[in-house]
Amino acid sequence: MNPEVKKRRTFAIVSHPDAGKTTMTEKFLWYGQVIREAGHVRAKANRSHTVSDWMQIEQQRGISVSSSVLNFPFESCQFNLVDTPGHQDFCEDTYRALTAVDSALVLIDSVNGVEVQTIKLMEVCRMRKTPIITFINKMDLEGKNVLELLDEIEDILQIKVCPFTLPIGVGKLFKGIYDIQDHSFHTFNKAENKQEIIQMTGPNDPKLVEICGENWVELFLEQYEMVTEGMEAFDHEQYLQGKMSPVFFGSAVNNFGVRQLLNAFATLAPPPIPRESDLRVIDPSEEEFSAFVFKIQANMDPKHRDRTAFLRICSGAFTRGSKTYHCRTGREIRLATPTAFLAKDKEIIDHAWAGDIVGVNDPGFFNIGDTLTQGEKFNFTGIPDFAPEFFARVVLANPLKSKQMNKGLAQLSEEGATQLYQPLNFPQPVIGVVGELQFDVLKFRLSSEYGAEVHLERMPSYGIRWILGGEKEKKSFSAEHIMDCMTDKENRLVCLFPNEYRLNLAIKNYSALEFSKTSPANE
Ligand code: G4P
Repeated sequence: MNPEVKKRRTFAIVSHPDAGKTTMTEKFLWYGQVIREAGHVRAKANRSHTVSDWMQIEQQRGISVSSSVLNFPFESCQFNLVDTPGHQDFCEDTYRALTAVDSALVLIDSVNGVEVQTIKLMEVCRMRKTPIITFINKMDLEGKNVLELLDEIEDILQIKVCPFTLPIGVGKLFKGIYDIQDHSFHTFNKAENKQEIIQMTGPNDPKLVEICGENWVELFLEQYEMVTEGMEAFDHEQYLQGKMSPVFFGSAVNNFGVRQLLNAFATLAPPPIPRESDLRVIDPSEEEFSAFVFKIQANMDPKHRDRTAFLRICSGAFTRGSKTYHCRTGREIRLATPTAFLAKDKEIIDHAWAGDIVGVNDPGFFNIGDTLTQGEKFNFTGIPDFAPEFFARVVLANPLKSKQMNKGLAQLSEEGATQLYQPLNFPQPVIGVVGELQFDVLKFRLSSEYGAEVHLERMPSYGIRWILGGEKEKKSFSAEHIMDCMTDKENRLVCLFPNEYRLNLAIKNYSALEFSKTSPANE
C-alpha cells in the first residue's frame, strides 16, 4: 500500500449529546497542532468560539447540527475526523457520515453510562462492522463503577470490551490511570494541570500505594484481576471486524488520557479499507482514483454563498484540476478547488489520497451517493437513504420572496436532510424530514441564508409511499387521491397517507400498483 494511504486514519466520533465530543475534538486538534489553544468549551449558549461548530443555529441551540470534517496530523499519521451531529433528529446525517469512515470512537460519559443515542449509532456501526475504540470520559466526576460501565458496554452495545487502561480513584479522588499494556501509571493532577508518567514494575508495585492510597489500590487490584484474568485478551482481528473494542479512561476537558487515545488510533485503527460497489470491491491501493459523495452542504461560508460536496476518496490519489468521470451522468468533470477542512477555515489542497475527505465546490451538480472514477463505470453501495416521517406545508410570509424561498428549498433539500415535494392540488410545497428539529433548522436557514421567512404548517400523516406501476393505473389513483398526492424532486408520484385505513384501502383497490416505502432509485 502506498505509504501516503497507509498513514491515513479516517474516523468519526459516536456519542450521546453532552458526552464531550466537542471537547475531545478540540483536544485532538490541539495535539495535531492545528489550533494553538484547545480552549475550554464554554457554556453551550456561548459556543461561538468552538472550532468545529459553524452554523448559527448550532450556537443558538447549543447542539451540533451538521457534521464537519477536520484533517490533522498526529505522530506519523494523517487523521480525518468526520464530526457527527449528536442530536437524534439529525441521525441520518450521522449514518451517512459513518459510511465515509474506516473506524469510530465511541465516547461514553462515566456518569450516565451508555445512552440512547449511542445505542442507535452503534447499531449502524455493527451493521457495517466498523472497528470501535471506546473512551470513557469524565473520570473526574463521581461516575459509575468501572466494572459496571464495562458490563453495560458489553451488554447494551453488544461488543466485547478490552480495557487498555484502568482508572484508580474516582471524582474528586481520581488519582490517574494505570496502563495495562506497559504498566505505567499516569497521575491526574487537576489543580496543577500536570501529568506525570511513572513506570511501575506491575500492579503490585508499592509506589502505586504511596501515590494512590491503600483503599483505592485494593479496589483497583480487584478490577485489574477481573479484567486481565476474567476477560478475553485483546485480539486485533476481532477489533478490525467490529467485535471487540479497546477501552480507555480519561477526562477530555482536563486533556487526560487523550494522547493515549490518539496513539491507539495511530497503532490500532485500520488505514483505508476496501469498499463495495455494484461492480466489484474497490481496494484503496488501486492506482485509479475513485470517490463518493456522502454529504452536501450549502452556505458553509456566509460570505460566499456556496455549496460544498464532501467526497470520500476510496482509491488512488487525486490531484487538483484533474478530470474525473461522474458515473451517474456519464460526464467528465474537473474538480478545480478541492479543499481540506478545519471547520471554518478551508485550505485548498493539491493532492489527496485514499482515505481522505475533501470538499469540492458543487454548482448544484452532485447528489449524495454519487460516484466519481477515472473512467470505470460503477457505483459505491451502502449509502443509506431515509424516508421522511414528519411533513409540513411551507407557507411564505412575504409573497415577494417566492424566488428566494424556492431556491433555498431546492438547495437545502439537495443536502439530503429534508425532502421536497410538490402537491398536485396545492401551490405550497411540502417538506418531509426524519427528525422534527430539522423543521426549525430549515426555517432558520431559509430566513438567515435566503432571506425568506416561512411558516410551517404541520400535516398529519401516517406514511409516505412512492406509487409505482403503469401510467394508466397511476393516473386513476392520483385522480382519486388528488388531495394527498405529490411529486418528489425527480417528478415521481408519491402519496402522503393520512392514516393506516386509507393506505390499506388503496393497496386493496389498486392491486396493480406498488406502494413503496422508499424512493425507487434508492432501493
Ligand atoms: P458534546 O459535544 O458531546 O455535546 O459535549 P461537549 O464537549 O460540549 O461537553 C459537554 C459538557 O461536558 C461541557 O460542559 C464540557 O465542558 C463537559 N466535559 C467534557 N469533558 C469533560 C470531562 O472530562 N470532565 C468534566 N467534568 N466535564 C467534561 P458544559 O457545562 O456544557 O460547559 P462548561 O460549563 O463546562 O464550559
